[in-house]
Amino acid sequence: MPLVSLSEILPQARRQKRAVGAFNVANYECALGVLKAAEAEKMPVIIQVFQRLFRSEKGSDLAGTLLRLAHRCKQPVVLQLDHGAEPDQIRAALAAGFSSVMFDGSKLPFDKNVELTKFAADYAGTFGASCEGEIGHVAMGDESAITTVADAVKFYQATKVDALAVSIGTVHGYYTSEPKIDAERCREIADALPEVPLVLHGGSGTPPEDIRKVIENGISKINIATEYMDTFLKSVRRQLDLLGGKFKPIDLFMDPVVDDCAAHVARLMRFFAGK
Ligand code: 13P
Repeated sequence: MPLVSLSEILPQARRQKRAVGAFNVANYECALGVLKAAEAEKMPVIIQVFQRLFRSEKGSDLAGTLLRLAHRCKQPVVLQLDHGAEPDQIRAALAAGFSSVMFDGSKLPFDKNVELTKFAADYAGTFGASCEGEIGHVAMGDESAITTVADAVKFYQATKVDALAVSIGTVHGYYTSEPKIDAERCREIADALPEVPLVLHGGSGTPPEDIRKVIENGISKINIATEYMDTFLKSVRRQLDLLGGKFKPIDLFMDPVVDDCAAHVARLMRFFAGK
């Protein structure tokens, strides 16, 4: 089916207190794993491509494959640029056919973040695409800045993004110390913005009980990158061990890897949906 935007799947998820999984992919097999899981679970899904891939031809090259896979999928699929860092990446992703973009100005001064996110939201709108913004900052090898309720409201009112990423204690990548998730802050932001789908970045390794609480408190999109890519790599390693140095054609070699990826995504999708 045709691609959908965030605004076609997230508001309903927020009302029903469930979350849609957003999985980062960088190759065909990881993308296939996500879409197989969506079909098996009969649930919508979000595929994301990290902005780094748009610093070269990788992003647009991969887009061709992703669009074909998504159109073939029997469930609604959002194809989103993740952590867009500059307007050119927003333009490139939309030109390549993405149905959603995230602009991440969370490390910029507030007004600059508003200005560039608003550009991304308005520009995406001309394509019928959606836009996610971030206020507060989820650490990516640097310091997090927990989102305040006042900033969240002011940022949303100024940008009218379709989904708002908030910083409530998660980090990108695996945790190096015990996570302290501020589910209460999440609830306060959700109460102040009752219609707005909130996004949790840094989903990998976040304790399940915290995930449950934040979904209950307004999170309706959960981003997973590290643990999904790690699932792929571990599965490749396992298959290589099984081969014991013998040759196998790569497409056949990858079949069980795709199955492992799909199983991982399906388990998370069910959990995020409260099943
Ligand atoms: P993780 O790598 O921690 O899962 O974070 C993913 C993410 O937030 C992508 O935007």
